[in-house]
Amino acid sequence: MKAVRVPDLKTMKDRGEKITVLTAYDATMARLLDRAGIDVILVGDSLGMVVLGYDTTLPVTLDMMIHHTAAVTRGTDRALVVADMPFLSYQLGNEEAMRNAGRLIQEGGASAVKIEGGRHMAETAKRLSDIGVPVMGHLGLTPQSVHKFGGFRPQAREPKAVTQLLEDAVLLEASGVFAIVLESIPDDVAKDVTASLKIPTIGIGAGPHCDGQVLVSYDALGLYDGPTPPFVKQYADAAGVIVDGARAYIEDVRAGRFPEKRH
Ligand code: KIV
Repeated sequence: MKAVRVPDLKTMKDRGEKITVLTAYDATMARLLDRAGIDVILVGDSLGMVVLGYDTTLPVTLDMMIHHTAAVTRGTDRALVVADMPFLSYQLGNEEAMRNAGRLIQEGGASAVKIEGGRHMAETAKRLSDIGVPVMGHLGLTPQSVHKFGGFRPQAREPKAVTQLLEDAVLLEASGVFAIVLESIPDDVAKDVTASLKIPTIGIGAGPHCDGQVLVSYDALGLYDGPTPPFVKQYADAAGVIVDGARAYIEDVRAGRFPEKRH
């Protein structure tokens, strides 16, 4: 069982091997995903929505991300752990971005960070990369800009937006990012971006042509009972298993079947 390292993702793209990514926010889930053989665990700021009960990712703080990233890295042996930099932890200046990314690596134990945005974030990505912090980019529907978009809406629908996204991807690659998440964009746009980059693209709602795929684990495993995006495929009914198990326990306790008498 060889640990996945940042350069392995580019090797996988070069070999045409798909890269698998799921999110995790705690050590137990991380251990299970690692045991299943996932390549990358993303400690997403989706934490705010699926674990902490917020409507957006915006209330998530750096301290929350460090706390959950440290739990995930404690539960991970093989997968590469990437931590999201939350809203306002990297947009206020490169010094602050470097300090905050450093905390995710030093205190959280992450191997890389993810930041949202294109050309405006290229310089920040370069500075982080230059000091040895591997950076994953994120283009298309960037949830930290939810209010600017007027909701969690698909992106890159107009020719101008498509051109801009392609340019942003090339600029991010030039700035040293090692992979780019493409979220909620048309399949053919994701295909063009993927073909024009040497680094891998990781799609979510971006069709089958990306070099890898990411889903929020709570959506993919049926653990989140809130609304899920239309592109999500549910691979398990974890919520059903938990509710059934909890009901069986409640019935047993109420009926005096648990605990059993000890002799
Ligand atoms: O926060 C997150 O989980 C993400 C993925 C949806 C890519 O950024």
